Amino acid sequence: MNDSAIPFSEYQNLPDAACQTRILAAKASLGKRLVILGHHYQRSDVFQHADFTGDSLKLSRLAANSEADYIVFCGVHFMAEVADILSRPEQISILPDLAAGCSMADMATLARVERAWRELKTVLDPDATFTPVTYINSAADLKAFCGEHGGIVCTSSNATKILEWSFARREKVLFFPDQHLGRWSGHKMGIPLEDMVLWDWDQPLGGLTPEQVRKAKIILWKGLCSVHQMFTPANIQRFRQEHPDGQVISHPECSFEVCELSDYVGSTEYIIKTVAEAKSGTHWLVGTELNLVNRLAEQFKTEGKTVQFMASTVCMCSTMARIDPQHLAWCLENLVAGQVVNHIKVPPDEAVLARVALQRMLDAS
Ligand code: 13P
Ligand code: SF4
Repeated sequence: MNDSAIPFSEYQNLPDAACQTRILAAKASLGKRLVILGHHYQRSDVFQHADFTGDSLKLSRLAANSEADYIVFCGVHFMAEVADILSRPEQISILPDLAAGCSMADMATLARVERAWRELKTVLDPDATFTPVTYINSAADLKAFCGEHGGIVCTSSNATKILEWSFARREKVLFFPDQHLGRWSGHKMGIPLEDMVLWDWDQPLGGLTPEQVRKAKIILWKGLCSVHQMFTPANIQRFRQEHPDGQVISHPECSFEVCELSDYVGSTEYIIKTVAEAKSGTHWLVGTELNLVNRLAEQFKTEGKTVQFMASTVCMCSTMARIDPQHLAWCLENLVAGQVVNHIKVPPDEAVLARVALQRMLDAS
């Protein structure tokens, strides 16, 4: 942070109501120079200020097409990085709280993935055999790795299409960091479960034998989203007993068993669209983050639809929740004062390669 910026300490005890008023005033003052993008998991007191909302794919496209000078991303770190990579060099991407990371993204590091690539080389030539596919929930250096090695990025809404793109080029895929999205998408393509093996980054050769590597169609990184592991088949069975006509919809970061028992599986945007288009009087069980499910329940109760959260415990994306009205007010008022705080800037050489992998995704989906 530069020295003349207003420090966050002036905001941390600011009451929420005061933050709301000041956010609105700062937005009005910045006008078209500012765009606020909000992910669907964002808490409502921040989400309400977003100019555009969406899932990761939609928000990436919005960032790429934005004309604003400042893109304030109410989401997590990798999303603000994508906004920086896809926007023009003079545009500035901002994450209101730098501690808003994604714990799943942190499970795949460049060092671990490069080691996996070296270890795979002891069995076969990975650059000729594997397409590296990274879920957008990953750091920019991993997207750059994919750009450099003929690979691609995917999101929860295009993963199957991206796997098809990948298999049209090479016979195997190394998919990171989310094993669940990779497994579900491979399954939807008709790949048998036994042809998808798990890579444990703590074990030599990922804990696999050379024979398993040769036989596999997809090697799945052992990463996961802990928020989405809270949903269980038992939650679904109980719901079905209580509501035999009810419908179940889940995010593909849920376990394979949960996805298999669901009537619909898809991204956050897909979940919203599906419930929105459902008939009045329908009853839904939704397996994704609580802020989104609460919003759905509120929004559709007037249409007579009931929306129920899948877990019995509270499970929120605690890192995304760090973006609060205080941080949003702080970064916007700094912009009004001509100061940029929490600028997310991917190193240029990394950004060039990451953009290659992201552009392949945007072209293929
Ligand atoms: P979506 O792209 O479906 O919004 O998912 C992003 C995410 O992080 C889900 O946990
Ligand atoms: Fe990451 Fe899970 Fe939060 Fe999504 S819900 S941003 S995968 S930690």
